[in-house]
Amino acid sequence: MITQNPTQTPKKIALINGPNLHLLGKREPEIYGYTTLKDIEDRLINKSREHHIELICFQSNHEGAIVDFISEQGLLSNKPIDAVIINPAAHTHTSVAIRDALAALNKPFIEVHLSNIHAREPFRSHSYFSDKAVGVICGLGDSGYDMALDWFIKNL
Ligand code: DQA
Repeated sequence: MITQNPTQTPKKIALINGPNLHLLGKREPEIYGYTTLKDIEDRLINKSREHHIELICFQSNHEGAIVDFISEQGLLSNKPIDAVIINPAAHTHTSVAIRDALAALNKPFIEVHLSNIHAREPFRSHSYFSDKAVGVICGLGDSGYDMALDWFIKNL
């Protein structure tokens, strides 16, 4: 079902993945599963297209590159993104810089984690993002990304 009016300017959503998520499918599959990041991105791009949403995918192992991407696609762009789906990966537990970049962007974002960060080492329970996110999805594997996109399709 197409929820957006195709005559409207298409919404733009960024899907951002942090360090080591380029290794999905090979990296600790018992925790993160066997689906590759490319499979996830392709699936979400296809679904976004059906709803006239432009999905821009970005993965980096570097905190500053993620900060740059958010500002380039946000305040420095003449067609800024409308929302963000982000798995900050290890930066979840460390990055004031990415948190500040999202605060500067001032658009809704959903935080996604493949694993249940609350059922692992204690240091993973704290997130620098959750209190600012519209929602947090964790522990549901790569379906969490689809759920985040579905929410934006309904609510953007
Ligand atoms: C992760 C959880 C983080 O603690 C970890 O550093 C990751 C992936 C997840 O998707 O479960 O790299 O964000």
